[in-house]
Amino acid sequence: MQGSILSVLVILALVAQDRLAGGLEHKSYDYTKYHTMDEISAWMDQIEKESPDVVSSMMYGQTYEKRNIKLLKIGFNSTTPKKAVWMDCGIHAREWIAPAFCQHFVKEILGSYKTDSKVNTLFKNLDFYVTPVLNMDGYIYSWKDNTTRLWRKSRSPGPENCTCFGTDLNRNFYANWGMVGISRNCCSEIYNGPTVLSEPEAKAVTDFLGAHQNQMLCYLTIHSYGQLILVPYGHPNISAPNYDELMEVGLAAAKAIKAVHGKSYKVGTSPDVLYANSGSSRDFARLIGIPYSFTFELRDEGQHGFILPENQIQPTCQEAYQGAMSIINYIHDKNFKSAAITVTATLWTTLTALWISSTCVF
Ligand SMILES: *[C@@H]1O[C@H](CO)[C@@H](O)[C@H](O)[C@H]1NC(C)=O
Ligand SMILES: *[C@@H]1O[C@H](CO)[C@@H](O)[C@H](O)[C@H]1NC(C)=O
Ligand SMILES: *[C@@H]1O[C@H](CO)[C@@H](O)[C@H](O)[C@H]1NC(C)=O
Ligand SMILES: *[C@@H]1O[C@H](CO)[C@@H](O)[C@H](O)[C@H]1NC(C)=O
Ligand SMILES: [Zn+2]
Repeated sequence: MQGSILSVLVILALVAQDRLAGGLEHKSYDYTKYHTMDEISAWMDQIEKESPDVVSSMMYGQTYEKRNIKLLKIGFNSTTPKKAVWMDCGIHAREWIAPAFCQHFVKEILGSYKTDSKVNTLFKNLDFYVTPVLNMDGYIYSWKDNTTRLWRKSRSPGPENCTCFGTDLNRNFYANWGMVGISRNCCSEIYNGPTVLSEPEAKAVTDFLGAHQNQMLCYLTIHSYGQLILVPYGHPNISAPNYDELMEVGLAAAKAIKAVHGKSYKVGTSPDVLYANSGSSRDFARLIGIPYSFTFELRDEGQHGFILPENQIQPTCQEAYQGAMSIINYIHDKNFKSAAITVTATLWTTLTALWISSTCVF
């Protein structure tokens, strides 16, 4: 009798402990599958609940269909303002590997910051702002049935007398809007919208980046497919002031990607390696002064295209993670090594001054 009461208590205690630890759901989340928007939203809540010391979430806008656009902010708490890295996934609905990558990225950094001193240092000096799915309405629509699977755009209705829906969010930003690589036909896949920033999703990112402009070191936007790393700008006649450095950093990332599973990624401006375009989020980020801005076009090169099989999620994310980390570590080291040297120099000056003053006294 007493024994059975005891075992019931022990079981209750174990259940309660599991509830409190909250680690079960995230650990059992299947990162090798594509997930619905509901599952991704629940995953975000879970991630935040599991690591409240380093993760918080922020809502920074609403989609056309009034869904809350949320990001995860990840890094150590700080009393002083920190520099930051932005990552968004799922601007284009059908590119399902992109949201899968944002989730993989979050899982990896949260799984390693306690043991990997490099990631630990990133958490000290930087905040990561990660939006797993920006175009939530479109993403949900792409999950509806197999006739909507290849949906790309937002879900806002077209202008008067147009029967088509949706604007290409990556043509809607305030960056040479409407100039090249766009369509004014509202039925086109690359319709740039009735006006610049007509889409609330593009507006939300614009407002957030604008408000955090001085703090953002890096803007990463994840797409598929093509195996490319794109640098600003999409307009063929405009060049980024740090184009050479962007290319150097992009090529190093491609090398890091290749080292994982042997996949080749091309690096260049959109007109050089893909096609000219305007109104992209990448170009907007660079135009407002965020120095390092890149688009990743993940696997593959067209064999499966947007319908990348689930057995490629893991390898695609593993290699892209190394690519992203190559960029982030470069930017981090460039910004914070010099700070370390300054501290050391100041220390030496102080010590020398002390030594001189001590020799004078005695
Ligand atoms: C930061 O510190 C505050 C106060 O200690 C705490 O409430 C919060 O959960 C911490 N984490 C984040 C990510 O803000
Ligand atoms: C779409 O789904 C229907 C019903 O499940 C099926 O009959 C059809 O073959 C599918 N079409 C494509 C293009 O996969
Ligand atoms: C829409 O179509 C109606 C009927 O053809 C026409 O009167 C109206 O001017 C059109 N509106 C626009 C904005 O083209
Ligand atoms: C780029 O400049 C060339 C030469 O001036 C011009 O012919 C071309 O139209 C320009 N391209 C765009 C997209 O404006
Ligand atoms: Zn895309």
